[in-house]
Amino acid sequence: MKNYDTTQTALQQFKDPAQVAISTEALHVYYGQHEQIKGIDLQFPKQQITAIIGASGSGKSTYLRALNRMNDEIPTAKVTGKILYHGLDMNQKQIDVYQMRRQIGMVFQRPNPFAKSIRENITFALKRYGLKNRDALAQRVETSLQQAGLWEQVKDQLDKSALALSGGQQQRLCIARALAVQPEILLLDEPASALDPVSTRIVEDTLNELKQAYTIIIVTHNMQQAARISDSTAFFYNGQVLEYAPTKQVFTRPQIQATNDPNYSYEV
Ligand SMILES: Nc1ncnc2c1ncn2[C@@H]1O[C@H](COP(=O)(O)OP(=O)(O)OP(=O)(O)O)[C@@H](O)[C@H]1O
Ligand SMILES: [Mg+2]
Repeated sequence: MKNYDTTQTALQQFKDPAQVAISTEALHVYYGQHEQIKGIDLQFPKQQITAIIGASGSGKSTYLRALNRMNDEIPTAKVTGKILYHGLDMNQKQIDVYQMRRQIGMVFQRPNPFAKSIRENITFALKRYGLKNRDALAQRVETSLQQAGLWEQVKDQLDKSALALSGGQQQRLCIARALAVQPEILLLDEPASALDPVSTRIVEDTLNELKQAYTIIIVTHNMQQAARISDSTAFFYNGQVLEYAPTKQVFTRPQIQATNDPNYSYEV
């Protein structure tokens, strides 16, 4: 995208640290020698939905995974820079990643339910975090499945294997699983890409309700979806952020509108 007009670009900043749920400073991600994320500074406001958009391969998933240290699981990946959360840099060796992920939950691009029952997918982490009360667990199962728009379809078969669900249902189960531990921040990597339009709307409605209590960062390919649900949008290009602003403002930019056109090439 050689002709991207940068004269009007803005990287939104929040002066009051109390408004910011999580931020990165000079965040780089390398796969081996290759620099994939090239120094990203972003602040994500509390109780809002921020969309991350950009072409395939621009680094959206890589960046999102960095926020809760999921790149630790990739042997060739190295992450440098700061991930600031409650005044602490999460990108330090001594951070208890397991505890941190309780606060910063994630739903991946491809559904990845455990090979367990629907119920156990929800209760597994809760039990490990010490919730033992049967009624409380049952309540959490119902509430989180309702929030993900799956309850009505599975309420009579909670002991069935999660792997017997359809792809779209599995993804909603993964959303329910992430919500069940009540994280402060929810990272969603194209959560609706495997969903039909009805399920997509249910999930979008849920996210809109959840933002009263949660901070949500969602990667999406779907520009209409970003426009419908997000307050702010960050536009990624080649491992950098070209623009970060209120969604309405970002979507008036002709270059970004063009990225919604399937015939559009980023390298023209
Ligand atoms: N585990 C990995 N090892 C090496 N390279 C990787 C790995 N994961 C991603 N990459 C590379 O990093 C680049 C960015 O990938 P990433 O998955 O972050 O892009 P994306 O913006 O999420 O794309 P998409 O929209 O297709 O999901 C790609 O060139 C990809 O090949
Ligand atoms: Mg991706």
